Amino acid sequence: MRVVVIGGGPAGYVGAIRASQLGAEVVLVERRALGGTCLNEGCVPTKALLHTVGLFSQMRRAADLGIDVGEVKLDWARAQARKEAIVKRLVAGVGMLLRKAGVQVVRGNGRLAASQLVTPLRVTVKTEDGSETELKAEKVLLALGSRAIVPPIPGLDNPGVMYSAEALEVSELPRRLVVIGGGVIGIELATMFAKAGCDVVVVEMLHDILPPVDTELSRSLRQLLTRSGVRVYTGSRVVSVERRGDELVVRIRTEDKEEELTTDRLLVAVGRRPDAEGQGLEEAGVRVDRGKIVVDDYLETSRPGVFAAGDVIGGVMLAHVAFHEGIVAAENAVLGKNRRVDYKTVPNAIYTDPEVAGVGLTEKQARTMGLSIRIGRFPLAANAKALIENNGNGFVKVITSELDGKVIGLHILGPRATDMISEGGLALQMGASVEDIYATVHPHPTISEALAEACLAVDSRAIHIPNPPKPVRD
Ligand code: NAI
Repeated sequence: MRVVVIGGGPAGYVGAIRASQLGAEVVLVERRALGGTCLNEGCVPTKALLHTVGLFSQMRRAADLGIDVGEVKLDWARAQARKEAIVKRLVAGVGMLLRKAGVQVVRGNGRLAASQLVTPLRVTVKTEDGSETELKAEKVLLALGSRAIVPPIPGLDNPGVMYSAEALEVSELPRRLVVIGGGVIGIELATMFAKAGCDVVVVEMLHDILPPVDTELSRSLRQLLTRSGVRVYTGSRVVSVERRGDELVVRIRTEDKEEELTTDRLLVAVGRRPDAEGQGLEEAGVRVDRGKIVVDDYLETSRPGVFAAGDVIGGVMLAHVAFHEGIVAAENAVLGKNRRVDYKTVPNAIYTDPEVAGVGLTEKQARTMGLSIRIGRFPLAANAKALIENNGNGFVKVITSELDGKVIGLHILGPRATDMISEGGLALQMGASVEDIYATVHPHPTISEALAEACLAVDSRAIHIPNPPKPVRD
């Protein structure tokens, strides 16, 4: 079987490798670098720079840890060079993996051709020099990704306005930065620039930052951000942007009050949208709805034999979801349609300070669904390792079903929350109860102990927080 994959990001390259493992002859078409948004201008470069600035800000407070380091300076050009080297190495790694898997990579712009025939499917590839070739396939996987949303705010065409990809490339750190959007990108990049020493203001339209996160955690994080010097406006809209000399003037409206913020750079991070428009997909028989490719539960599009995965199908637009969808789509394409993606166990992983991660339902979602729930919380101030690492900032919150004690949500604000959340994902996948988690011995001293303690706290049995003594039963 011949499979053509269009798009070499997390959904596309993983889908191509999986299809090849299953015995298909696979061609992958990509117009830019392999690895997609995640590797080239998203997850990886952000985390590389966040790592540098995280260490920088810790070293500025090294004296608190008993270390004298003298003057600490951030060399942004070298931090950028290191980030680029990491990206380059990983992009080359993806190329190597595809090569070893026997996947042929074709450079150019791939497009599913309109055709009356059911098979073979045809993909035209236009290369940079303008030449065009045609590939025939029995199955096609569309993994076209997403792009930043440009909101209709007057003045966004001014120099100094940037989107996340450009923000990760700045050769000089701005002194002042305004961020429109307190979502995942806005808050991660606000954290990054603030730690690098910039004066950062975030403007978010809704009443809380990080909309998908449990409100209790997003509000705590907001307090910590504010304490670190980031100004956060919520319930505020940007009305217009104007250039005055060397500065940008951002006019914002909060309730019925208007205010002007003056800045050097403006970052627009109001969301991303699937990139399915203008690619002739409708003409080729693939249904597109509000920019995203419509797929069934098995990730097949309205055109038989054409599958789609990753950001281009909308839904949860995260790299780890794209990896998973790429595998499921490839297996369904090659082996026949019988696998679905289980979105119930998809974690959020947000790289702030401290990190935020969650899986399953938030308290608000559970209450809106009318579920009877019980909640256990454990503050990291009562956890030895967290106290050592970050002064105990953060907490763990577990949400369980009152009926059977099963874990239906786990939320962590704390160091390495993004690593620890996998225990919650496994709990949800296996239908584990709070008993299962606290019956599992957690190593000491680790922050993961707080997960077990939060589970005990559901029944007021946490050991390392005071509980009122219960009356002795006869
Ligand atoms: P987002 O959807 O997470 O957040 C956008 C925010 O902008 C929302 O809070 C929204 O209310 C706000 N907003 C929209 N219009 C506004 C306006 N005119 N004025 C003020 N606020 C406004 O989108 P974001 O942060 O751009 O991220 C895009 C995608 O990338 C998301 O799907 C996200 O999940 C993904 N991503 C995930 C990361 C992670 O998981 N660590 C890291 C970076 C991106």
